Amino acid sequence: MVNKPWWQTTTIYQVYPRSFKDSNNDGIGDIRGIISKLDYIKDLGFETIWISPFFSSPQADWGYDVSDYYGITPEYGDRTDVEELIRAVHQRGMRILFDLVMNHTSIEHPWFQESRNSRDNPKRDWYIWRSGRGNRPPNNWMAIPGGSGWHYDKRTDQWYYASFLPFQPDLNYYNSEVKSAMFDVARYWLNKGVDGFRLDIFHSIFKDNQFRNNPSTFRYLPTDDLSSGWFQKWDYNLNRPEAIVLAKELREIVDDSNPEGLLIGEVYGSDEKIKSYLGDRNDGLNMVFLWKLDKLEICARFFRNVLLEYEAQYPLPYTPVFVYGNHDLRRLFSKIGPDVRFAKILALYQFTVRGVPVTYYGEEIGMLDGNFSARNARDPMGARFSWIPDILVNKLGFYINRDGCRTPMQWDNTDNAGFCSADAQPWLPVHQDYESINVKSELACPDSILNVYKGLLHLRRENTVLREGTLDILDEADGSHNLLAYRRNYKHESVLVVINFSDRAREFKNVTKCKRVLFTVGMDKQGNPEEFDFPPYSGVILGDSW
Ligand code: GLC
Repeated sequence: MVNKPWWQTTTIYQVYPRSFKDSNNDGIGDIRGIISKLDYIKDLGFETIWISPFFSSPQADWGYDVSDYYGITPEYGDRTDVEELIRAVHQRGMRILFDLVMNHTSIEHPWFQESRNSRDNPKRDWYIWRSGRGNRPPNNWMAIPGGSGWHYDKRTDQWYYASFLPFQPDLNYYNSEVKSAMFDVARYWLNKGVDGFRLDIFHSIFKDNQFRNNPSTFRYLPTDDLSSGWFQKWDYNLNRPEAIVLAKELREIVDDSNPEGLLIGEVYGSDEKIKSYLGDRNDGLNMVFLWKLDKLEICARFFRNVLLEYEAQYPLPYTPVFVYGNHDLRRLFSKIGPDVRFAKILALYQFTVRGVPVTYYGEEIGMLDGNFSARNARDPMGARFSWIPDILVNKLGFYINRDGCRTPMQWDNTDNAGFCSADAQPWLPVHQDYESINVKSELACPDSILNVYKGLLHLRRENTVLREGTLDILDEADGSHNLLAYRRNYKHESVLVVINFSDRAREFKNVTKCKRVLFTVGMDKQGNPEEFDFPPYSGVILGDSW
């Protein structure tokens, strides 16, 4: 029997390099810092690391604005450090993913500097330049964060397009030189040993080449699936059919260098649109991030529905991705409130369902968002919208100042939480709760969130049923009693997971053959496996054979 590719069963830990660990006490996390913490990630039990960008960049969007895809921003280290990082990850039997920002470069990238020089510059067509309609931009397309996506450049009296912020001009992938330049970048890092890429805003990589206006809607605020907003349907600037073709081409490039390489796309749109990136014959990206767990409710019905949807949309050999947070979203623990039991049952779910779990650094200790006003934002998104009163932002449920989820990792209870030395000034203030919420103290406490993550990750690594099994949801726990139960099945073995999402104790009659307690959260291991009494917010994993 052919083994599944590694990425179908892996577990991913996202590192935001600026905030993870500072090795030289300049207050900024760096590559050497990450290397020094690889054993931590490995001991926790994660198998793959995804690192947000550290390439040369003016850091206007903290690395998501690249000025040289082959260079490294000096405050993070140099190429030797990066090569050492790849080696050190592999030595530990783990995999490493880089973050490829293909859609746009920094305004400081030499390609753009040349492109903006003159209308007949050989690099002119590497970006998207158009003449305006009189004083107005070439068409009505809005940038994803709002405002026109077009920016006027006096030098050549034309406008360039940027899907995100004005200093991130979009590349023109209709130009074959651009495509091959970016494919070279991918090949270069694959040949250095990288196991794949997370693809930044891949849904915006192609824009309509006839520049048709987007149709209007009454919808001002962006929809949850981000297919419309700012009074328009984003039909012509996002999720264009050419992007799917590019996904397949990119897949071939990866396959040539590393047939096991992984491409995981950051794409937004309707369920159908985002699935289309995987290719009609499963020949596109390997996986896409799924966002249904971002706005979650602590109730069995919610988590059951997500499972039903993902199972229906991503049956084998597709692999759904289970993600609660990242460097753009409010932290999980800030979303769900201060009850550690929530964090534990959510981890139980994330690591036992069929698919790939992705954990954002700090989630495993229950880190909270820093509380910053947008007025002093270091995040360019926060700064751009700092005129909107915080009270309104919170009311609308928007997450505008992403500084909150990017505060330094809390390693211990010393000043600056072990991220950098006490006399250094961290680039963002350490969260005030670091004395109680930190790795060191949670490692020492058997019942901490961290130890629940660790236990689950280790169990999953050893248990083929949890890694590879199919999933079926048990009818008897249909969410009405706030209990969720599902079984994973592999060959003749099964594992049963039952989670009580209720604030009350619940009984569960176990009619399955799974009677052997493998793991519990929020309850005693010695319960009666025929008839469980679940305390509020608790759960169990049961196996059926020794
Ligand atoms: C993605 C990144 C985000 C960045 C944006 C522009 O959404 O996750 O951090 O600001 O793309 O590159």
